[in-house]
Amino acid sequence: MTHGATAAEERPITPAEALRYAQAMCTAAGSETPRLDGEVLLRHVLGIDRTTLYARMNETMSAAQAATFLTLLGRRVAGEPVAYLTGYKEFMGLGFGVGAGALVPRPETELLVEWALGWLAEHPGSTVVDVGTGPGTIALSVAALTPLAAGVSVIGVDVSAEALRWAAGNRRGLGLEDRVALREGDLLSGMEDASVDLVLANLPYLTPQQVQENPWLAMEPEMALLGGEDGMALVRRLIADLPRVLRRGGAVGLEVDPSQVAETSQLLSGALPGAVVTVIRDLAGFERHVTATTR
Ligand SMILES: C[S@@+](CC[C@H](N)C(=O)[O-])C[C@H]1O[C@@H](n2cnc3c(N)ncnc32)[C@H](O)[C@@H]1O
Repeated sequence: MTHGATAAEERPITPAEALRYAQAMCTAAGSETPRLDGEVLLRHVLGIDRTTLYARMNETMSAAQAATFLTLLGRRVAGEPVAYLTGYKEFMGLGFGVGAGALVPRPETELLVEWALGWLAEHPGSTVVDVGTGPGTIALSVAALTPLAAGVSVIGVDVSAEALRWAAGNRRGLGLEDRVALREGDLLSGMEDASVDLVLANLPYLTPQQVQENPWLAMEPEMALLGGEDGMALVRRLIADLPRVLRRGGAVGLEVDPSQVAETSQLLSGALPGAVVTVIRDLAGFERHVTATTR
């Protein structure tokens, strides 16, 4: 396949050819998931699921489909997240609308949600706060996947009005208007004393150097990535406010960088004396989430 839209004009191409081309382009650009990138974009352009794509690999694409595909591929190679290009990301089996201004949900965060669902199964009637909710990732998943009868109420907080617009759209899309409140604010500052049973947060935790070194993060909002000089500024501030807002017997689950797990564990033990602190590894085996349950 030759380069650009001209290739589509020369002769009809098949999804198999388009996928091979996309894989080569994304590999050359340094994507860690070159085949998946191509596959997701192809499925988006053709409007079909994975099974259908593989069944139709050798059929021809229309010139318009090929041209759209090549345009999106060009944007992907230039660094745009695939989910921004399709406007959609699946998380915990739920569909989230995403785009400029909101962090794309990452698979490792699913483990934090799973831990929270386990804790909530034993603590019905809890009030949960997702601090730095972005497109509503944790707050909406927890609400959607907790039985109505458990009587859990969920609040998603974010400092970014743009992120909250995505969260509101997703809350509507998932039919969770009655079960999730969204609030603009700084960390836990809007929460009353002793008003929360479970605090969950995937706050910005990267350093400026980590963001600079990863060109694939360039299009996501800095406000969703940067956690100050050492990445810990927001996590530290959040932990310092936990003793004020957490109810007795409450718990907290935080996603952090593996290099921050030790300090986060220490800070939690200090802020919540007697709490049981545990660490959850992500699917790549890195220590990723720190939880603390109080008595
Ligand atoms: C890493 S993103 C996480 C998004 C989502 N919770 C997830 O897990 O995919 C961090 C979010 O924290 C928000 N944020 C940054 N500073 C904040 C602050 N001081 N108070 C509340 N939210 C903040 C950002 O706007 C962003 O949406």
